[in-house]
Amino acid sequence: MNDAVDQGSRRVLSGLAVATAFSILSPFARSAGVDYPFTLGVASGDPLPDGFVIWTRLAPLFNAADGSGGLKRAVPVRWRVASDAAMTRIVKQGEVLATERFAHSVHVEVAGLAAGRPYWYQFEGLGAQSPVGQARTTPPLQAMASARLGFVSCSHWERGYFSAYRHLAAEQPDLVFFLGDYIYDSSYAVDSGKVFRAHGSGNAVSLSDYRNRYALYKTDPDLQALHAAAPSVATWDDHEVQNDYANRWSQDPKIPVAQFLQQRAAAYQAFYEHMPLRASSVPKGPDMRIYRRLDYGRLARFHVLDGRQYRSEQPCIQANGSHQGHIAANTCSDLRDLGRTMLGWQQEAWLDQGFAQSQAQWNVIAQDLLVAPLLQRDLSNHKVGHWTDGWDGYVANRSRMLASIGRHKVSNPVFWGGDIHSFWTTDLHADANNPDSPVIATEFVGSSVTSDGPPFEAFSKILPLNPHVKFFDSRQRGYVSVELTAQKMLTNFRVITDPRDPNATVSTLKSFVVEPGRAGAIAV
Ligand SMILES: [Fe+2]
Repeated sequence: MNDAVDQGSRRVLSGLAVATAFSILSPFARSAGVDYPFTLGVASGDPLPDGFVIWTRLAPLFNAADGSGGLKRAVPVRWRVASDAAMTRIVKQGEVLATERFAHSVHVEVAGLAAGRPYWYQFEGLGAQSPVGQARTTPPLQAMASARLGFVSCSHWERGYFSAYRHLAAEQPDLVFFLGDYIYDSSYAVDSGKVFRAHGSGNAVSLSDYRNRYALYKTDPDLQALHAAAPSVATWDDHEVQNDYANRWSQDPKIPVAQFLQQRAAAYQAFYEHMPLRASSVPKGPDMRIYRRLDYGRLARFHVLDGRQYRSEQPCIQANGSHQGHIAANTCSDLRDLGRTMLGWQQEAWLDQGFAQSQAQWNVIAQDLLVAPLLQRDLSNHKVGHWTDGWDGYVANRSRMLASIGRHKVSNPVFWGGDIHSFWTTDLHADANNPDSPVIATEFVGSSVTSDGPPFEAFSKILPLNPHVKFFDSRQRGYVSVELTAQKMLTNFRVITDPRDPNATVSTLKSFVVEPGRAGAIAV
């Protein structure tokens, strides 16, 4: 282990400073009448070879009606990073001010650390100490180290416990990807029979609504355990704002664009406030940059996409003007409109450039949706067509993206996704509509943490129409863990026994290997 201690920080922190700042208070200490403020846990994220972001939010009253977390003034927060789990060898430390502007969230971009090794971190404020979290820097840029990775999506609080998070944490991954629907903006009706544990509030619209929704989710012990165990990289899907929204358009045609952009601004701000993101992601009104790249030495480059903020309207909008996804018949010419984009033109160009410049052995495109085309049957009228809210509604963009992979001879491209609440393994062909064209990329989509999956029987019946689908299962909730080396990507579809059981156990449903130089997964 490369134990690189910052000598300057060690000198500053030797002796009295450490003792008075951190040593005497238990995690549940109360001070000056203020309840324990670290109710939402800690997190780290967006690692680099020399650092990462560490995050917390002080919220002694996490569900305060005004979204303030129960704090009305700025609070100084001390942080420290150590090279040991007992927090005795401090390598970096400092103090920041947690303010009302960002709901007393703290985002510290720690730098100057050694590459490819674990670190531990902790916060102190209002006379209390946070739990200790474990982070990890990425390997040196030229290193070909192995990695244990995980990805998750779609955790609806009301549909059960987050055992998937707990079991992924137990695997001690080096890095975890959240691929969207980390929260759900919408709540089930109390009498729907769907509510296993209630949000306790309706659909989120305002900044305080979104803050309190994130805060509620962040109180979950399994979610806290996963964040404390490993750094994460988060992107979003639709439910961080609203079901099936597209860019500036609500799914509800009665909500004007200007009004919806206010809602989007609130939702994006709350996302920033609750995720370990860098300052480059600080929202500017309704805009927020979250697409980004992350290099894991030379082993892997992660291209993290934003599939929501810049997209064209869904194609084949129905007569009532709703943007909600639906099955559109192939006769709808919108589906093939070359002027439509999922990622937006800037992000498309950025992705093309990232493919062109990548030196990595593996190129993982971490995003929110199933990428493969999927001919499916409308469950109500049984007509065959394509789902308009996913990549099938953005065919031209998908073709450009796959063409870019082919043009730049991208090394071992693998797509990760979520949204569809089921496990999928697919072959992505150079021409997505021509099954005789070569397979140029591999795709794995993970099941939901708790959200309901699509009907297994009905979806199974359409698989013969989709021969590029190698595996599908929607019956269980779970996550995906990945063991990655230069020679092999081993992907495990992990399933929990029951989202309604807080002590659910875990098992592997199916495993696949991808070998370098050969697109397409091999079942093992
Ligand atoms: Fe979802």
